[in-house]
Amino acid sequence: MAARGASRSASDNEAWWKSAVVYQIYVRSFADTDDDGIGDLPGIVEHLDYLQELGIDVIWLSPVYRSPQEDNGYDVSDYQDVDPLFGTLEDLDRLLAAVHLRGMRLIMDLVVNHTSDQHPWFLASRGSREAATSEWYFWRDARPGTVPGEPGSEPNNWGASFGGSAWEWVPERGQYYLHLFARSQPDLNWDNPETREAVYTMMNWWLDRGIDGFRMDVINFISKDPRLPDAPLNRDGYGDGMPYFSHGPRIRDYLAEMKHRVFDSRPGSYLTVGEMPGVTPEQARDFTDQVHGQLAMVFQYEHVTLDADGDKWTHRRMSVNDLRDTLAKWQTALGESGWNSLYWNNHDQPRVVSRYGNDTTYWRESATALATVLHLHRGTPYVFQGEEIGMTNTRFAGIDDFRDIESLDHYTRAVGTHGEDAAVVLDILRRRSRDNARTPMQWSAASGAGFTTGSPWIGVNPNHSWLSVAAQRGAPGSVYEYYRALIALRHRLPVVVDGHFAAIDTGRDQIYAFRRQLGDVTLTVHANLSDLPVSVDRDRRPRDLVLANYPRSRIDLDRLEPWEVRVYVR
Ligand code: GLC
Repeated sequence: MAARGASRSASDNEAWWKSAVVYQIYVRSFADTDDDGIGDLPGIVEHLDYLQELGIDVIWLSPVYRSPQEDNGYDVSDYQDVDPLFGTLEDLDRLLAAVHLRGMRLIMDLVVNHTSDQHPWFLASRGSREAATSEWYFWRDARPGTVPGEPGSEPNNWGASFGGSAWEWVPERGQYYLHLFARSQPDLNWDNPETREAVYTMMNWWLDRGIDGFRMDVINFISKDPRLPDAPLNRDGYGDGMPYFSHGPRIRDYLAEMKHRVFDSRPGSYLTVGEMPGVTPEQARDFTDQVHGQLAMVFQYEHVTLDADGDKWTHRRMSVNDLRDTLAKWQTALGESGWNSLYWNNHDQPRVVSRYGNDTTYWRESATALATVLHLHRGTPYVFQGEEIGMTNTRFAGIDDFRDIESLDHYTRAVGTHGEDAAVVLDILRRRSRDNARTPMQWSAASGAGFTTGSPWIGVNPNHSWLSVAAQRGAPGSVYEYYRALIALRHRLPVVVDGHFAAIDTGRDQIYAFRRQLGDVTLTVHANLSDLPVSVDRDRRPRDLVLANYPRSRIDLDRLEPWEVRVYVR
């Protein structure tokens, strides 16, 4: 077992993650030390001082396990080893020790809805119905009365997230297996007790190594309706199985069992955050209930789908009203009994400043305004690498610039199969592709953005010439220094962590305003989430101002400038 830099103490029993700020590292794009153009674990160690200066409490590592990398590590072939691309298990131990030495913590990604098709469990399972892991995946016969292996003979009509049918035919076994994502990502059968046992054993192995929790990939998909029935058709002609695989009949039992088998017998508290597409506020409140819940918090999706018109490959203008109502709804619904996670960005989402903000005229203002409303909500905030310097979407010249399996699959299908106009498809990809999040971290204006001296696996955003850590660190008024101040506010003021939330109706469509209350301390946020100035009722509390994203000398008490935000405490 690896040594921890700091050992767990009684005080760890509290829910320490409530006052924490989490920083997500997409390792492949963070910092490259061996010049292969791909980020690695030693690269993270080199930047721990930076993260500490920013005020980060917890690092979440996107998957670094052994993997064929078809979905950049979300296809795991060995849960208990590090992929040579990123380093070694010893590198990970060194990183963990260095993180703990600084009083920070580290959580790992847990991808157990599916494995890679190269995982030994799957290789054995596909090879023979006699194998020990034969029932660890969803195997089904062809639809009765059809020719097995021919299109149309799939066991049901569900489509996969990365295109095509959710079923793949395996001649050796004479059956189909289920994959909700790519065909190289077969779904694990959680209804089989041995499968669950193997997952818990693996999780315990990591916790024994000293990690501080898990981010759980699509964890609300692990319990499927055992009938696996046909579903109403989507735009792409496949059935939408969501109602049958999301929040299935045994989801609570499995998460309760996991909590019991993995976490309950350990001293201290762990950060567990479940990624849950489609989760409702009521479900989220129950999962995170402080007494009866199974997880510390969940990632909901509602606020990051407001600019889509149906499926992910459509666009509509997000209205400030919708955004405000959605954010406030989740705050209120989880209330005092549940706990929210707070995020704008991650490795699957386009950059928020380009998406909901304004990445040209009001780049700095909108990046800081969006950060403020997020971080001053009740819940645990997540910063995705580069968000703290206001990184934007990039310019993809053509399809060859994309790397993401989902984006490439969409292009092939839309243009190749359905004959859609390539220019139109590229346009939507530029807006919505996950690759927008995955361009290299912009450390400096150097040719590889200070990320690599080699050739980066995905193009650096050309705006690193002016948008970088080097340009912003220590620069008064920069997005980075603003994030530092915002994070420091959370660490300084208990009202930010524990305050009750209440929305304020200002009667102005562009403004999002809310109050947090703890005892006799009140924190108030007024944010103009638009490109236009807006008049406000005369501000009588300028002396209570603790944070603002416009220079104080320019503050007009009767109005809010474009993307202006003011925070008061009294
Ligand atoms: C989650 C991950 C995403 C991945 C998918 C399949 O949504 O965040 O990156 O592609 O699950 O594992």
